Amino acid sequence: MPSPPSSIVIRRPDDWHLHLRDGAMLGAVLPFTARVFGRAIVMPNLVPPVTTAAGARAYRARIEAACPPGSGFRPLMTCYLTDRTDADEVARGFGDGAWVAAKYYPANATTHSESGVSDVRHILSVLARMEKIGMPLLVHGEVTDANVDVFDREAVFLDRVLGPLVRDFPGLKVVFEHATTEDAVAFVRAHAPGVGATLTPHHLMINRNAMFEGGIRPHLYCLPVAKREKHRQALRRAAVSGEACFFLGTDSAPHPRAAKESDCGCAGIFNAPAAIEAYAQVFAEEGALAKLEAFASLNGPAFYGLPANEERIKLAQAETRIPNTVPAPGDTLRPFLAGETLGWRIEA
Ligand code: DOR
Ligand code: ZN
Repeated sequence: MPSPPSSIVIRRPDDWHLHLRDGAMLGAVLPFTARVFGRAIVMPNLVPPVTTAAGARAYRARIEAACPPGSGFRPLMTCYLTDRTDADEVARGFGDGAWVAAKYYPANATTHSESGVSDVRHILSVLARMEKIGMPLLVHGEVTDANVDVFDREAVFLDRVLGPLVRDFPGLKVVFEHATTEDAVAFVRAHAPGVGATLTPHHLMINRNAMFEGGIRPHLYCLPVAKREKHRQALRRAAVSGEACFFLGTDSAPHPRAAKESDCGCAGIFNAPAAIEAYAQVFAEEGALAKLEAFASLNGPAFYGLPANEERIKLAQAETRIPNTVPAPGDTLRPFLAGETLGWRIEA
């Protein structure tokens, strides 16, 4: 067997699913992403959410103002769908470049989704318009039915909601965000190329046991929650397959430590400090470093109809130590894999 390469050069990657927050928190977390990624799809679940094109433009300006000097990072904005979203506003914002996609959060499915869609029937006219203009729908794919076990909510969403939706809107481009199950992987494969999926570093690295190892681990809690090992294995096979429908989306979702280590801790894993290094580790473990560029730098742009980045980054086999904490306004953040060491590092 040939030994794996000790370094690889890939086109600069993009992050197709990211939470940057706003204000001082934005300033604290953005440099981690801008260090590595050329572009990112920025999630609109602020408080209040980004529901208007003017709001998206203003948010983009705040992100650009917070970018480290010399950074070429480009935020790609999204529209937060509600029961009252107007199809004309969505299409206008898409047409003039205010946003590139719209995010469908089932109401109360996750952090800051209270204003989300209470029933998909409320947005059918919006979806019809998006299908017509080629605007991607980004989906948080979990039902909110309290009678459905939290570990089954993704698979049930595929059955009850997304299956009928792609049947009714066969031309609609859909990204199934942060897929966590073998069911989602199979669904996406069956509906590619119109349907794609993002895969996070944490769902490739941990299964649901990790949340309970030696005690409750609030920093490993996110939504959709990590699933059984067989699902993690299916996600890893999908990521390293090179198939165009699977691409990088970190879902890095910072919450102040006090909000995670609490009586009712927030969902979200902050993985931005070492996201590409974590993906590289997964691909190396799978003997698939040659497929990292497709997953991280080519498949996402192709799905969104954008050019791949021209710049290159070099990843070398060398230790990256992940900090125990990252400073944040009035508190700290605890990154994914805090205090641990990964085997890959970005070289200048
Ligand atoms: O764990 C999560 N955190 N899942 C989401 O869908 C939202 C995110 C956040 O914004 O914190
Ligand atoms: Zn997210």
